[in-house]
Amino acid sequence: MNRKYRKTVIAANWKMNKTPSETKAFMTEFKAMLPKGRWCDIAFCVPAVCIPAAVRAMHETRVGIGAENCNANASGAYTGEIATNMLVDAGCKYVICGHSERRAMGETDADVNAKVLAILEAGLVPIMCVGESLEQRELGVTEEWIAMQIKAGLSGVGEDKIKKVVIAYEPIWAIGTGKTATPEQAEEVCQSIRTVIRKLYGAKVARAVSILYGGSMNEKNAEELLAQPDIDGGLIGGASLVAEKFIKIIEAANQPC
Ligand code: 13P
Repeated sequence: MNRKYRKTVIAANWKMNKTPSETKAFMTEFKAMLPKGRWCDIAFCVPAVCIPAAVRAMHETRVGIGAENCNANASGAYTGEIATNMLVDAGCKYVICGHSERRAMGETDADVNAKVLAILEAGLVPIMCVGESLEQRELGVTEEWIAMQIKAGLSGVGEDKIKKVVIAYEPIWAIGTGKTATPEQAEEVCQSIRTVIRKLYGAKVARAVSILYGGSMNEKNAEELLAQPDIDGGLIGGASLVAEKFIKIIEAANQPC
């Protein structure tokens, strides 16, 4: 982390977990445990049907609510899809895009790019995910692969908007596996992402962009990961479903840096 230059963001990705009623109960428990003071930005990206309950519960707190996906089109015949203006109206602040679980369902870099542009256009914060497979890591092409995902995903994003983008590095082999990247492995890739941003937008912008790590981050390993200079927060799946664990990760963001 480097709070002098950029925000620390601790974001939950609930994936396909919890009902609206469970969301309400969780938020009540979580709110009671939320530490005082503003150490980091906190986001909950929740299933679409849980957004109203989450927004209601976190009204007038420093916690932002987000969606886990969106459609890049403004409106129309896209059965089952959700447009960014709907998310704005529902009270969202963040939208995850390019998660590897959605890429595995067929989302391309061009789709991710269209979503990033639509999210920014709507005034929301995109949390754009990138990450390599185990095979790519073993082949030694991680940096090139991630650089390609970053360049493709950010295509057409102007200098006026880039500082709003949050990037999440999530090695696919570490997601939901309990196999976290070591702090050194995670730092190495997050640092290389910042180098790509520097080449695209210059040093000042690169210093200001928050880059998160995701992949089996939990209350035990968060402190070590967040101590790395280029890891500005976390995108947390499993451990964000338990209020106590997620609070401990938020507390781990409160360290000198
Ligand atoms: P886990 O924390 O469950 O590994 O999930 C990480 C993730 O995919 C967050 O987007």
